[in-house]
Amino acid sequence: MAYGLLAGKTGILTGALDEHSIAWKVAERCHAEGARFILTNAPVALRMGGIQQLAERTGAQLIPADATNLDDLGKLYDAAKEQFGQIDFILHSIGMSPNVRKGRAYTDLSYEFLQKTYDISAISFHKMMQLAYQRDLIKEWGSVVALSYIAAQRVFAKYSDMTEAKALLESFARTFGYHYGKAKHVRVNTISQSPTKTTAGSGVAGFDTMYDFAEKMSPLGNATAEDCANLVVFLFSDLSRRLTMQNFYSDGGFSSMGISEEVLEAIAPKA
Ligand code: NAI
Repeated sequence: MAYGLLAGKTGILTGALDEHSIAWKVAERCHAEGARFILTNAPVALRMGGIQQLAERTGAQLIPADATNLDDLGKLYDAAKEQFGQIDFILHSIGMSPNVRKGRAYTDLSYEFLQKTYDISAISFHKMMQLAYQRDLIKEWGSVVALSYIAAQRVFAKYSDMTEAKALLESFARTFGYHYGKAKHVRVNTISQSPTKTTAGSGVAGFDTMYDFAEKMSPLGNATAEDCANLVVFLFSDLSRRLTMQNFYSDGGFSSMGISEEVLEAIAPKA
C-alpha cells in the first residue's frame, strides 16, 4: 500500500548492497511513496552489480562514494545539487568492523581496525551531515536518518567494537540534531533495528542465535527490513515534522522486555 507520503521529495540513500539490505527496502518504499533519489555505495560495492538493477527499477542515479572520504562525498553532493537543487532526506545505512570481520575478541582489539570501525560506521555520519550543513544541501524541515542497534545501550556479547560505533552514531544524531535543528530546522534521528538477515548483520558472530533470541523475546517478533523501511519513510515524511534527536526502536517490543515465556521455556532445565 502506498500513500504518496514522499511525493515531490528528493534525497540520497546510502548502503543498498543487495536485495537483503535494509537500504534496498528503503529505496523500494521511498520509490513507491513518490520520492526521487540518488543511490550511493562504496565503489567496491557498486562493482558487485546488484544495485544497478535497483537503480534502473527506481529511476535513481547511481554515484559511487566511500562515505569516509570527503572528496567522494563532495562529488556525491555536487551530483545531488545538480539533479535536485536542495534535497529533503539522507539515509545513512553503513556499517563495517574489521575487528568483527577478522574475528578479533573484544579484549584483543586491533586499534588500527577500531579507528576504521569508527570512521566507516559512525564518523562517516558526522561527515555526511557536516558537509551537507556547510553546503546547505538539505531543505528546511528535511530529515536525516541513520540505522543503529540496541547494543548502543546494552551489552551484546559478540557485537564487539560495533557497540561503541553505534553509541557514537546515536550521539552524533543527538548533537548534530541540535545544531542542524536550531540553524536550519533539519531533523536528525536514528532507528534501532532488530537483528536482520543481511550481509552486515550475518557478519556478527552468533548472529543466528541473536536473531532467534530476539525473535523469542519480542512480543511482535523481530522487525523486518520492510518494517524498518516503513519507519524510515515516516521519518522522511512531513508526518514526523517535529521529531528530532531521537532513537526509535524498530524491534517488535524487544527493548522493553526483561524475559519472555518463550525464553524461559528455552532455557528451563528439561525434566
Ligand atoms: P548491508 O551489508 O546490506 O549494508 C551495509 C552497507 O554499508 C553495505 O551496502 C556496504 O557496502 C556499506 N558500506 C560499507 N563500508 C562503506 C563505506 N566506506 N562507504 C560507503 N558504504 C559503505 O547490511 P544492513 O544490515 O542493511 O546494514 C545497514 C545498517 O543497518 C548498518 O548501519 C547496520 O549496522 C545497521 N543495522 C543492521 C542490523 C542487522 O541485523 N542487519 C541491525 C541493526 C542495525
